[in-house]
Amino acid sequence: MNVKPAENHPIGVLFVCLGNICRSPLAEGVFRALVSEAGLAHRFAIDSAGTFGWHEGDAPDARTRAVARRRGIELAGVSRRVTASDLERFHHVVAMDGDNLRELRKLAKRAAPGADIGLLRDFDPLADGRRDVPDPYYGGEDGFVEVHDIVERSCRALLAELRERYHL
Ligand code: 4NP
Repeated sequence: MNVKPAENHPIGVLFVCLGNICRSPLAEGVFRALVSEAGLAHRFAIDSAGTFGWHEGDAPDARTRAVARRRGIELAGVSRRVTASDLERFHHVVAMDGDNLRELRKLAKRAAPGADIGLLRDFDPLADGRRDVPDPYYGGEDGFVEVHDIVERSCRALLAELRERYHL
């Protein structure tokens, strides 16, 4: 079970994918925008990371940035690898697919019990049993648009759930 943030302490939400250049930076940017629109920026600490380090230090993928920009979201930040201490610092760690989730569960064995670890798409109202945000890296542009749609729906529902849980 997750550690509850202290009163007035930011709620930590970390989005995690494989490379931290496509899906999780997008989820971070979309969630950040939704939280700002709701006037709740001061209540959250939002970040993203990857389970593997191949792209460490890289900016988000140009295709992800282009799709986000068309919807008014500028993605910032550079790729980094998730650490065991992330699982102690963040209250909610939100994986993009089942592989990421498995890696996080392995990592969690090396961390003090802390984060509530789950899948982003479990919040997607149109998931229809699908639990992964598909990896768009080796596909075409339409895959990036689909990922954005999934991420946006799921992040809206995630924020609604957290607002209810924390009475925001
Ligand atoms: P992401 O996408 O996990 O959504 O950032 C990928 C990025 C890079 C690679 C695979 C997926 N890669 O194989 O380098």
